[in-house]
Amino acid sequence: MPKADSPPPSTPAVAELGLTVKGQVQSSSDLNAAVTAAKQRFVGRNPNSAKLFEEATEYLPGGNTRTLLYSAPFPICMKKGEHYQVFDEDGHAYTDFVGELTAALYGHSHPLIQESLINTINNVGLNLGSTIAQEAKHAKLICERFSLSKVRFCNSGTEANLHALAGARHYTGKRKTVVFSGGYHGAVLGFWDGVQDNGVDKHEWVIGRYNDVEGAKKLIEQDDIAAVLVEGMQGAGGCILGTNEFLMQIQESAKKVGAVFILDEVMTSRLGPGGLQAIDGLKPDLTTFGKYLGGGLAFGAFGGRVDIMAVYDPRSPNSLAHSGTFNNNTLAMNAGFVGLSEIWKPEVAVEFNKVGDAFRASLQEVTRGTKMSVTGRGALNAIHFSGNGTTEISCREAVDEDWGLKDLFYMEMMEGGFWITRRGSIALILGTPQSELDRFVSVVEKFLERHRTLVSL
Ligand SMILES: Cc1ncc(COP(=O)(O)O)c(C=O)c1O
Repeated sequence: MPKADSPPPSTPAVAELGLTVKGQVQSSSDLNAAVTAAKQRFVGRNPNSAKLFEEATEYLPGGNTRTLLYSAPFPICMKKGEHYQVFDEDGHAYTDFVGELTAALYGHSHPLIQESLINTINNVGLNLGSTIAQEAKHAKLICERFSLSKVRFCNSGTEANLHALAGARHYTGKRKTVVFSGGYHGAVLGFWDGVQDNGVDKHEWVIGRYNDVEGAKKLIEQDDIAAVLVEGMQGAGGCILGTNEFLMQIQESAKKVGAVFILDEVMTSRLGPGGLQAIDGLKPDLTTFGKYLGGGLAFGAFGGRVDIMAVYDPRSPNSLAHSGTFNNNTLAMNAGFVGLSEIWKPEVAVEFNKVGDAFRASLQEVTRGTKMSVTGRGALNAIHFSGNGTTEISCREAVDEDWGLKDLFYMEMMEGGFWITRRGSIALILGTPQSELDRFVSVVEKFLERHRTLVSL
């Protein structure tokens, strides 16, 4: 088993990739040709993934059960993960920058998580169909770390947001919720360019522009707003930072009209020991969580003010039901607790995010003056390729992503031994060696040199 700090065993050097390393790609009209060539190399390198994809299409629409993971011509099929690496079905090793979109924070084989899962299986069992002492222990830890009065568990970030919204509606007796374009709060709660076709329709959505302080104030300060749901940094939207002024305005306006301020920290809770809210001095009424807080298992949580969370107290005659067969499952309750108490200690959270800040600064250095930019905070980052020359990104409307360049980047980073998402998000996982972060910066630098005519501003 490779150690966490050993280099990937089969990472090809860029010069071996059959790319045009010496001569640059000459003409900006060559983007299509460069993407086509990269896709041909991709097909040639990954015959097993291609075959498995074909087989999967037999029973899964598009061979897929999670749309994000599909990319043309077919997605890479991973065989296993170890520590900070993943290994595909064609024998390639990658440094894992997908990090399961922040859920794989502890890596793929952390010994404490493994021990907790094995102990739970051997000594507790699965599916007890009852409350367990461990759920109150995990609840106490999460409440203390994130300054919540009460918390409830569920199975995903999507569910956490749905329950928080239902609670806010019940508490206020109102229906409208303010959200922001580019925001993503779960499978049926995406607001890329308005309400998505698969969106939940129980709510009345009012959609504002992210980081528009005056606009947010106007939208929230109406009589009939039940809740405001917002990310402190739009994660899936491309790691777009919310300014402190914008987030504080939301908090103040919500308070003024009695709307419930829900901060979605499904991704951002890992930016510091107490989440983004502690860093930014925010005091949301409710906060939603997910991802790594289940130790790597399916998990969600929502919690906050005691009077609002009381709507979920079954001792009250008018309470809301909160169902979910696996809400307090033994594995997530135990592994989540071990992860937060023994691995993700406050000092680890601080140090790891500093590593992420330094990594982003190095990337910003090499991308300066190009169409490529890197946004993010701490160890959560996103790559952008500007189609209109703008590299200052404050909201979705400001981003005009060049998907041709993004595809080229995605394909060539895989060839360089880095597993990233096609959309360009990078969620670092604990134990990633500094040498791999440095190597990525140099692979990016070479990419930009090789394609200078395509990426110059
Ligand atoms: C900010 C945010 N909220 C909610 C979710 C939904 O979480 P899940 O995928 O666990 O349903 C995500 C998932 O990426 C997210 O990034």
